[in-house]
Amino acid sequence: MENYETEHRERIRSVAPECCVLLKTNGKFPLKCAGKIALYGNGARRTLKGGRGSADVNVRTYTTAEQGLKNAGFTVTTESWMDGYERAFQSAGKDFRALLKEKIACEGMDRLMENLSIVMPEPEYDLLPEGEGDTAVYVLSRLCGEGVDRQAVKGDLYLSETEIRDILQLEKKYENFLLVLNTGCIVDLAPIADQVGNILLLSQLGMSVGDVLADLILGKAYPSGKLAATWAAAKDYCNVGEFGRRDDTRYREGIYVGYRYFDSVGKEPLFCFGHGLGYTDFLISAGRVVLKGTDVSVSVKVKNTGAYRGKEVVQLYVSLPEKELDQPFQTLAAFAKTKELLPGEEEILTLSFPVESLASTDSMRHQRVLEAGEYILRLGNSSRNTKICGVVVLDQRAVTEEIHPVGGETDFPDWKPDEAQRQKLEKFLISEDLSPETGTKTGETFEKLPILKLFANQIKKQMHHPPKTDPDALSFVQNLSDEELVYLCTGDFVGEGSKNVIGDAALTVAGAAGETTGRFQKDGVDPLIMADGPSGLRLSRLYGVDEQGIYAVEEQNDPLMEIEDKTELIPDDIKKILYSMMPQLTPEERRGTIHEQNCTAIPIAAALAQSWSTEAAETCAEVVAEEMKRFGIQIWLAPAMNIQRHPLCGRTFEYYSEDPLISGKMAAAVTKAIQKHNGCCVTIKHFICNNQEANRFRTNSMVNERALRDIYARGYEIAVKEAQPYALMSSYNLLNGVHTSERYDLLEVLLREEWGYRGMVMSDFLPGDKTASDVSNKYRKFASAPSIKAGNDLMMPGGRAHYENILKALQKEDPDWVLSRQEVERCAARNIELAWKLKGR
Ligand code: BGC
Repeated sequence: MENYETEHRERIRSVAPECCVLLKTNGKFPLKCAGKIALYGNGARRTLKGGRGSADVNVRTYTTAEQGLKNAGFTVTTESWMDGYERAFQSAGKDFRALLKEKIACEGMDRLMENLSIVMPEPEYDLLPEGEGDTAVYVLSRLCGEGVDRQAVKGDLYLSETEIRDILQLEKKYENFLLVLNTGCIVDLAPIADQVGNILLLSQLGMSVGDVLADLILGKAYPSGKLAATWAAAKDYCNVGEFGRRDDTRYREGIYVGYRYFDSVGKEPLFCFGHGLGYTDFLISAGRVVLKGTDVSVSVKVKNTGAYRGKEVVQLYVSLPEKELDQPFQTLAAFAKTKELLPGEEEILTLSFPVESLASTDSMRHQRVLEAGEYILRLGNSSRNTKICGVVVLDQRAVTEEIHPVGGETDFPDWKPDEAQRQKLEKFLISEDLSPETGTKTGETFEKLPILKLFANQIKKQMHHPPKTDPDALSFVQNLSDEELVYLCTGDFVGEGSKNVIGDAALTVAGAAGETTGRFQKDGVDPLIMADGPSGLRLSRLYGVDEQGIYAVEEQNDPLMEIEDKTELIPDDIKKILYSMMPQLTPEERRGTIHEQNCTAIPIAAALAQSWSTEAAETCAEVVAEEMKRFGIQIWLAPAMNIQRHPLCGRTFEYYSEDPLISGKMAAAVTKAIQKHNGCCVTIKHFICNNQEANRFRTNSMVNERALRDIYARGYEIAVKEAQPYALMSSYNLLNGVHTSERYDLLEVLLREEWGYRGMVMSDFLPGDKTASDVSNKYRKFASAPSIKAGNDLMMPGGRAHYENILKALQKEDPDWVLSRQEVERCAARNIELAWKLKGR
């Protein structure tokens, strides 16, 4: 292992415990020392470092739970149980593949790609828990990934019968029992949650996942994460809106996503948003609440009152007044995390936010507004453990921004909680007396409740400053031929296509996702190489170089591949098509020297968000930036910022949170950490409302403008305004009937004109451009020419078809789409500007 690998692994190991959430504790952990340990569960040996798909990072090795515990000096007493589990898993895998083959034969090719990434639900099996000692750990894993949503079945969203039986039995049998959740998505823990004393959401932490588990069990490290999504019984999630429809999915729940729903209807989740324990306790006391201009700030004293070191996250929520617009019970407005506090130590934190950040969209009047009334500030360490610490009173309705209508229309009004639900809520959550005379109890201290007066004329109005295209870049592209111009707007390719395999289409760096037009090589326009994320840098670990160029060398070192590699299911005719897109010789036939590119897998985005620490996110991003430099990558295809709308979404682990503030703050921190390195940038993706994988190229998300702006776009808005990412990726799905890449109102109006975005927009990978299957579907796939027209500057990964379709539209030879020279120049200029920015001129 090279020095940088060891060093990066250690950095990740030291920061990862911040991402782990202790959901329950009875004080039995951490242990005093390593000894005998009984290890069970599907994740004992098959521990997951991350999810599947383009976010998967090819690594040299990573530590599993078993290895981590052994490295830490434990004697694992359950080898034969783990061997037995392996046999059960393998035999279930065989049956599963046979079933899948049958299903594909029946349902035809259309479903093939979806079924290829389907995950086998956990099988049922009978094995005796025979491990010795007083201590047992059960590692429960769930794999999910790109291309297919999870299933509401036992062994996926639900616990299997075997898992329930074993977990409950182990809880009784062992003195010290810890249930470890090695998942990037929610599992319905209702059957066991109140019966198990210790539950740790370890999550999927990349390279050192097993070592981190051992560190936590031994107290060499402590968990300090908080949930960034609500963990509830599956039946309790909001079912007002639709999910996973093939054609149209109506987001009827509007703004009531995640805790905004649970809190507003008074439903008790198993573990609420923001919840997380540690090995110690903290006392949180609100200090001064100040209004400076329109900035609210609350100073908070956090004291470690326990016997162990730890860090605490303080959260500030606001309940907004409801006049014309309905509001969720509360909205996260600010958060901060302490440094490490020793027992008895205290720290003063300041949480602040501009009042304007609470504005809601009034889509009737095309405004963002703050309504008159009381803004109740709630401070605490989870969404369900807060105390009121102050009230801001706004005298009149104030407009914070005049906005354009964007996103189109739906055929439904948004849902809102009814009166009965709201009344339940009043009893349920608002227990404090709001009168300033009685004050409010915050931790141990009583303070007079501050009431702060704010006047509508103080509110700052957001003005729009649309960016101008760089005049040098514009005059550069104005001198190009049509062909050259169009070439700049497609990813690089050879022959008919780039290698044209999603996630592995680059020509310069093996296994990178794609690249821009290097063969253009005019006046110093070099190619920009893109690699996937967000769990690190996705490259081929091994690659060869011969006279034809670079080629990836596949490795079969992933234990899951034995079951999950389903290439045998691809019919021969499809295989032929796939091979015809690739270079003439297959990797097996090629020679040349073999090289290594070892990248570090960092915690998945969902875990990073659980740290509630922008510093932790920056530390991980820094590792990625260093590897981008090392391997010659300029554009990282991350962070992914879609909202975790539904527990069944297959890519949940790639996304940060159900809350847009956390998503936006995390993405802004990551963007700054990457882009401070010359020649490196991020790509925030997938813009927008890409919240399911079902039929992902042709699914239409139907969302009203308020939810669009206040929930789904809000995180992107924060990231753009705070950190100016250089690149953004549009999404596969349609939004209200039009593909996002083809929506001028999204790309040119919302993103550029309103938010002032100065970067370029690329498509997600593989435009359809009139594919044959378009006719048999309600919606076609997104296409190159209309995307360019809408301000989607670059079609990725690029291929002859995309190049020709844009050229035809430009030369008025396409009956359906027409592009003007200015429209293509505008996109090409933005791509040139990026190349100059990243490669210097
Ligand atoms: C995914 C993107 C990814 C791209 C390139 C697409 O299928 O949706 O997230 O960046 O492939 O691998």
